Amino acid sequence: MLTQKLQDALNEQINREFFSEYLYLAMSAYFESIELEGFANYFNVQAQEEHFHAMKMFNFVHDKGGRVFLKALDQPKNEYGSAISVIEEALEHERHITDSINKLMDIAIKENDHSVISFLKWYVDEQVEEEATITRLVAKLKMINGEGLGLLTIDTELLARTFTVPVEAN
Ligand code: FEO
Repeated sequence: MLTQKLQDALNEQINREFFSEYLYLAMSAYFESIELEGFANYFNVQAQEEHFHAMKMFNFVHDKGGRVFLKALDQPKNEYGSAISVIEEALEHERHITDSINKLMDIAIKENDHSVISFLKWYVDEQVEEEATITRLVAKLKMINGEGLGLLTIDTELLARTFTVPVEAN
């Protein structure tokens, strides 16, 4: 069983993961609107990853005999000024998610629930990857001032990204 405090905290995180999915879909839609289909694909795949993050936690709460309570999702931002501003906001968002995962882990440790601690380690590691990937993208966009042929080259590269279910989930 989960303590009430841990169940509430896990439910809050499920909401944040679903919001992440929603936010990245809005970013994908923005890129579709300016015809950068590679970036649109990148955020579409990112949204699928967030759905996976949310569902992995959703299923875990049930496995632990807990109860999932879905909450309303905030409206994501839909308009952006440039490609680089989207990527910078995505990085900011991932840093916020890392912070929330760390706080969730702090609660699990305080509640002395080893199964939750073990479960959350996957998210701790995943956040390192999430931040690193977007940080690299921000750096590349800054190198090319976020425009021109460089932007189109990165857009073409991002078209190749596909969603694969993490091995740990099988
Ligand atoms: Fe589920 Fe991108 O953090």
